[in-house]
Amino acid sequence: MNARLCNDLDVENPWTGPMLHEKVDFCKQVIVRAGDLVMEGFGQARTMQMKGPQDYLTEFDGRCEALLRQAVADAFPGDGFFGEEGGGAGNAPRLWVVDPIDGTANFARNIPHFCIAIAYVENGRAEFGAIYNPVLRELHFARRGEGATLNGRPIRVSAVASAQAATVELGWSSRIEKGDYLETMSGLLDLGLNVRRAGSGALGLAYVADGRNEAYAERHMNSWDCVAGLLMVEEAGGRICSFEGDEKILRGGPVLASVPGLADSISRVVGIQLA
Ligand code: IPD
Ligand code: CA
Repeated sequence: MNARLCNDLDVENPWTGPMLHEKVDFCKQVIVRAGDLVMEGFGQARTMQMKGPQDYLTEFDGRCEALLRQAVADAFPGDGFFGEEGGGAGNAPRLWVVDPIDGTANFARNIPHFCIAIAYVENGRAEFGAIYNPVLRELHFARRGEGATLNGRPIRVSAVASAQAATVELGWSSRIEKGDYLETMSGLLDLGLNVRRAGSGALGLAYVADGRNEAYAERHMNSWDCVAGLLMVEEAGGRICSFEGDEKILRGGPVLASVPGLADSISRVVGIQLA
């Protein structure tokens, strides 16, 4: 029985295990459940815990990841899980790559710009991804070859092609050297772009997919922050850097996603290659 026939008959595929659409449905449900858990902690006064310089941790990062890790293990015991807080087998052939809270610094300060990000990766390549902001109840979703949506409605990247009318989000973390960041920002400003930083790389990429940003760039991102969002931009008609393979999943790398009309000029300025 081939995979297409399996799909038509809606039975388990003997080569890949449960069908992808089961995983898609599961993902859309579990990410909202995880969002409800995170919302229990939103708006509370809290003492900040730090993992490193400007790198925040709250009890809800751990609790949310534990919920997702357990849910994946129960539903798809043959799949691997790689999370920001607990790590995991980042090179499993069928892998859930999870950021339990992206934009933790915002969450910890009660700023409603954070999300949960989940990417499902087969053999180093994302097959679908979900990014959910539980405050706005916005679910961005993309499946390879089938487009990107926001709360079920198709989304496209913005049509803006003039730098003077465009906004790029330039991500930063303490993993990036200060001089490099300032030089990149200066180049983007010289190009005429508005440069912003909102503190959630996953949402920054989702906002390129739905036309709220024209581009997102960051010298180094971890896979849990960017794999879902990169697929979203690609499926929404944008251009992206390559981010495939075990090495990128395990260690991360540079990220660029842009509307087509500005992609080459932004790529030259930030020095990040497009696929
Ligand atoms: C960080 C945010 C930030 C990005 C960093 C990430 P965290 O993740 O996405 O916007 O610039 O690269 O590490 O700490 O909020 O999960
Ligand atoms: Ca993150």
